[in-house]
Parts: sequence; C-alpha cells; structure tokens
Amino acid sequence: MTKPLIIANWKLNMTQKQSSEFIKDFAEKVKASQNQVDIILSAPFTSLETVVKALTNNGLEKVTVASQNVSEHESGAFTGEINTEMLKEIGVQAVIVGHSERREIFNETNETIKSKSKKVLDSNLKLIFCCGESLETREKDETDKWIETQIRSAFNDLDFSKVENDQIVIAYEPIWAIGTGKTCDSIEANRVIQNIKDLIKNIFPASLANSTRVLYGGSVKPSTIEEQMAQTAIDGALVGGASLKANDFADIVNFSTKAVLNA
Ligand code: PGA
Repeated sequence: MTKPLIIANWKLNMTQKQSSEFIKDFAEKVKASQNQVDIILSAPFTSLETVVKALTNNGLEKVTVASQNVSEHESGAFTGEINTEMLKEIGVQAVIVGHSERREIFNETNETIKSKSKKVLDSNLKLIFCCGESLETREKDETDKWIETQIRSAFNDLDFSKVENDQIVIAYEPIWAIGTGKTCDSIEANRVIQNIKDLIKNIFPASLANSTRVLYGGSVKPSTIEEQMAQTAIDGALVGGASLKANDFADIVNFSTKAVLNA
C-alpha cells in the first residue's frame, strides 16, 4: 500500500505565534507515527518561515511546508504577488494550486491554474493540484466529465520530461463537502479517485501516474479518516477546518496509518 499523505490547509488562519504553538503541541503527538505517514502543512505566507523553523526545532524535519498560492509570473510589476523563488528561499517545498476557493472567490480559471501548475513544477516544487465539482454539477450527473476537464486543461500539453515521480499530488475535493460538515460518502469518493487514477494513466508518463497520490478533501475529521483510508484508491486527505487544532489534526495523522497497518 502507498504511504498515506495528510495535508493541513490552514487557509486564512494561523499567525506566526499560533503556528509555533500548534507545532509544539502537534510534534508531541505525531513523533511516533511520523515515519509511517507523509505530512504537509500549508500555512499563510506570513507564517511559512516560522513553520519551517518550528518544525526543525521540534524534531519534525520530515514534514513538508506548502504555500496556499503562488504567482504564475517570474517577477516584475505584479503588486501583491509572491513568486516561487521567494517561497523556495524560505524553505517552502510545495504549493496548493486550483483550490475551489481560489477558483470561485478569486476567479482563477482553468487557464490560470494551468500556468500556476506549470510554474510550480518548473520551479521543482511539489504541486498539490485540487479539483472537484459543485453540487449543481453533481446533481446534473456531470461530476466525472467536470473533473476530467479540470485535469486535462492543466496537464494535457504539459512537458513531463523534467517532472519527478511523486512531484504531483491530486486532491479531489467536492465543493459541497468543503467546510460544510457534509463528508462525501467514502465509496463514492473512492470511485471518483479511482477514475482520476485511470485518467492520469492516459496523460502522465507511467511511472509518474503510478507515483501520484490522489487524496480526498472535504470535511475530513478524526471520526471519518479511518473509513476513508480503508478505501482502495484514497491515498490520504487534504484537511481544512480539522487541521486548525493540533489535537484533531494529530488524530487524523495517527488514525490514517491504522488502515495501512491493518492492510
Ligand atoms: P474542510 O476544507 O476540511 O474544512 O472541509 C478542506 C479544504 O478546503 O481543503
């Protein structure tokens, strides 16, 4: 079985002080399991460097730090933007691209997301690519088509020659399940994720497709993670609300390894 990957997405939360306190607490609780699970913390820009340092100071140097956004541009007159070099300089190793909140609230199109994804990969950063359907799309029975379009528009004509195995992570996050407490049924999430895995076999080189982990996101909690991880295709979780409390997020990390140990 693939090593689980659990990602915290803190969104617009967590000052530097709160981040440091979180990591101190979290480190105590996950030290024993940290070799059985990959962990990524995705913090707001101003807390990224603090998180990198706090992880090292608390014995969690294997945990990766991600930003929640990046500019698709290299440098220049783009007021308010942050580029990949700036992130790498402070120890960031991954970027979330295509989150539904960026798509919906900040009007990021498939075209913007394609440019950002390319920029992240060209900069040798890990790409955490999000996709997922609205309730309306699901009710029209167009979920699979929608997700295929999101994935194809980002990756269809990408040059994969320099992309490393495991450099891309895909998170399937049905929009209606994000922050609503309504988790997608595990069997249905597993079905969509298996479809994504079949689809990327037609787009990515074989070794990259096989090493790409596909996660579920949307109201993941300590009480849901074991069932989700017990599914055949789900490789981990992208966690929003439940990643803000060290206790809850540590439970999710620790419980995610149970299905693996039991497999
Ligand atoms: P949630 O958020 O866990 O609060 O539903 C998930 C996400 O937006 O990545």
